[in-house]
Amino acid sequence: MLGFSFLRQRPIDKYVADFYCKDLKIIIEVDDYSHSIKEIYVKDIEREKRLIALGYYILTFKDQEVMNDIYNVGLRIENWINGTREKIIPLPPSKGDKASTEILQFSKATQLLTEGKVVAIPTETVYGLAANALNKEAVTEIFAIKNRPFFDPLIVHISDIKEVEKYATHFPEKAKKLANTFWPGPLTLILPKSKTIPDLVTSGLPFVGLRVPNHPLTLQLLKELPFPLAAPSANPFGYVSPTTAKHVEEQLGDKVSYILDGGQCEVGLESTIVMFEEDKNPVILRLGGLSIEAIEDCVGKVALNIASHSKPNSPGQLDKHYATRTPLKLVKEIDITAIDKSRTGAIAFYKPFDFLPIENQKILSPNKSLTEAAHNLFAAMRELDSLNLELILTENFQSNGLGPAINDRLNRARG
Ligand code: TXA
Ligand code: MG
Repeated sequence: MLGFSFLRQRPIDKYVADFYCKDLKIIIEVDDYSHSIKEIYVKDIEREKRLIALGYYILTFKDQEVMNDIYNVGLRIENWINGTREKIIPLPPSKGDKASTEILQFSKATQLLTEGKVVAIPTETVYGLAANALNKEAVTEIFAIKNRPFFDPLIVHISDIKEVEKYATHFPEKAKKLANTFWPGPLTLILPKSKTIPDLVTSGLPFVGLRVPNHPLTLQLLKELPFPLAAPSANPFGYVSPTTAKHVEEQLGDKVSYILDGGQCEVGLESTIVMFEEDKNPVILRLGGLSIEAIEDCVGKVALNIASHSKPNSPGQLDKHYATRTPLKLVKEIDITAIDKSRTGAIAFYKPFDFLPIENQKILSPNKSLTEAAHNLFAAMRELDSLNLELILTENFQSNGLGPAINDRLNRARG
């Protein structure tokens, strides 16, 4: 705007601004209904006072205002930039403004997690259902909310590579190299666990999954909290992982105390999991947001053990995982003359299937980018699943980059 750039989700002091312009020291907050679930909308006075004392100027908009009057919002920002603050046109009171909603704000999430509650948090891969990893009651609550079997261990999220030594007894050189290269990022390392991590978190296994996620809000949370966060993906067990706060709200909104809204997940696929057993070569247990090529460029050849088992090493390997309710099939598996085309949807890579109505189709990346396709995959699966179709068709993605991870999710959804 007017030559100034505004950055999204910037950590400022101990808070995170929705939009921030460094040159102007202006913070733009869009806080309100979409951030909220059911409680009372409370403006964080302390936060405002502190930021103002540090010389920042804060312009706050309620979500509803932005939706109802985008023109005035633009004008208000421009007026401020032009130094004519007096002329600011007051925004009309917004319709549908809920006095009975509360912003799901950062400080509230910190408070609830400290109290041992479960909070949904954004990461760059998918949203997580987080609780204090060192508090058994809090961790038990995660399993209960997700309806997840206790044999399926949780990933522990930490703020920095330096924390590995607190929770793992051994940090092999190759694991260290991967962590140094890809953290924060979509990589989980399975390392021999220290006693600090409760057995409940690792389902009794002598290994713990550790990851530094790459999302400014969650990194900030992890830095402030004196404990790591255990967090599985924030979906009911067996269903597609959520990539927006709204996905979490739709499925678990009545069960979690808070959802911290950090926007749409950048990567859109869960982390790649690499297992390190002492003196053995690394093994990939789950394909994910970090490609095999990237891993092998860093540490050389790795083994793959991602086939599904009845007793998997990593229960993400279970067959019926990431499922949609609507049956999903590869287009080459079916006779297209025998289907009801009006009730068939499709997930296509870059161009629609010509024999199906376009409105039932999701094109993941018209530019043929596998990264973009991964980013859009789970939202596409959810949207098609909500259309009450009989069948969803898809195709095989290419076998480089994030293609194998996308194929893995689609194959498991096919069950
Ligand atoms: O990207 C991600 O990894 C997301 C975000 C929230 O960080 N988390 C995630 O968690 O996908 P979840 O619980 O949905 O999947 C974690 C997978 C499970 O299949 C689990 O079995 C495996 O990681 N896992 C966790 N700890 C393990 C361990 N100690 N040994 C073997 N597998 C482990
Ligand atoms: Mg999951």
